[in-house]
Amino acid sequence: MTATILVTGATGKLGQRVVSRLLQKEAKVRVLTRRREDALKLWGDRVDIAEGNFSDPASLKEASRGIGTVFLLSPIGETLAADQNAVIDAALSAGVSLIVKISGSDWTIANAARSISGAAHAEVEKHLTGSGIAHAVLRPNAWMQVALEPVVAALRKGEDVPARLGDAAVSFIDADDIADVAVHALTASVPVSSTFVLTGGEALTALEIARIAARILHRPVGISHNSGTAFPPDIGVFEQKAIGEFGQLIREGLAASINDTIHQITGRLPRSVEDYLRARLAATTPQGDHSEGEKTWR
Ligand SMILES: NC(=O)c1ccc[n+]([C@@H]2O[C@H](COP(=O)([O-])OP(=O)(O)OC[C@H]3O[C@@H](n4cnc5c(N)ncnc54)[C@H](OP(=O)(O)O)[C@@H]3O)[C@@H](O)[C@H]2O)c1
Repeated sequence: MTATILVTGATGKLGQRVVSRLLQKEAKVRVLTRRREDALKLWGDRVDIAEGNFSDPASLKEASRGIGTVFLLSPIGETLAADQNAVIDAALSAGVSLIVKISGSDWTIANAARSISGAAHAEVEKHLTGSGIAHAVLRPNAWMQVALEPVVAALRKGEDVPARLGDAAVSFIDADDIADVAVHALTASVPVSSTFVLTGGEALTALEIARIAARILHRPVGISHNSGTAFPPDIGVFEQKAIGEFGQLIREGLAASINDTIHQITGRLPRSVEDYLRARLAATTPQGDHSEGEKTWR
């Protein structure tokens, strides 16, 4: 494997995990970012930095020059489909041979009429297929690093587990497991062209998470139905709608499916919620074992 891999969304929660794994494998990495200084702080000269913006086609063309493979990720927002389609178009012009896309959760795409985020990801998947570029699409379930962080914050304050999703079970997945699958797809000697639905290994309700927390903390832990619903100020209208729709679909039980894709691809079991909570609650700083300042609402 010698061709350079372009990582979009590299400075974000999943992208950082993907870049560090690629560097461990001694892959040649170029990162697309609007924040050169932040990328320099993260990786110094170990990556090639392409300063650019999804909204600037010339910067995408420049970032794609000489690239063999693209990791495609952009944040949820009204420009998601346009942004990702622009990366695909630039990749096509540059002769890229493989794209690995982080898509929405399977149940958002299957219910795209009730999920603006799922609809946007579905539009990108269609564009990707139409491009003719070989591609792997990863559809991960709700991430622990996002969905469980309000639980971690509440437990740290001595509170109960917030039950934002009623009594629905969710098979939360660790972003590190997603990154492992993504890197497998990005570096496979024979390109894997498929859609992978990625789930955690167990579907848990808030009550079951409270029982796990009680075991870890050696104190009684219940569930709280009074968790706040206010959005932080940096969350736009599109994302607020998308998050509201996630909640509705999850409450219907759609995020509870389990499969063994992580095990099949990585050869090990997905990380458990208990293991995640133990590590996060043992961490001494609020950011815990990851220092990238993860947004924790989504
Ligand atoms: N959280 C979940 O449970 C979940 C489940 C399924 C799917 N997903 C999907 O995962 C994705 C979010 O991943 P994440 O949480 O890792 O993202 P994130 O942490 O929010 O990071 C976003 C990244 O996008 C880059 N970016 C944003 N705007 C850009 C622009 N205009 N031009 C170039 N780069 C830009 C940022 O780079 P710079 O700031 O450095 O430019 C940053 O690296 C979404 O597509 C979401 O649908 C999430």
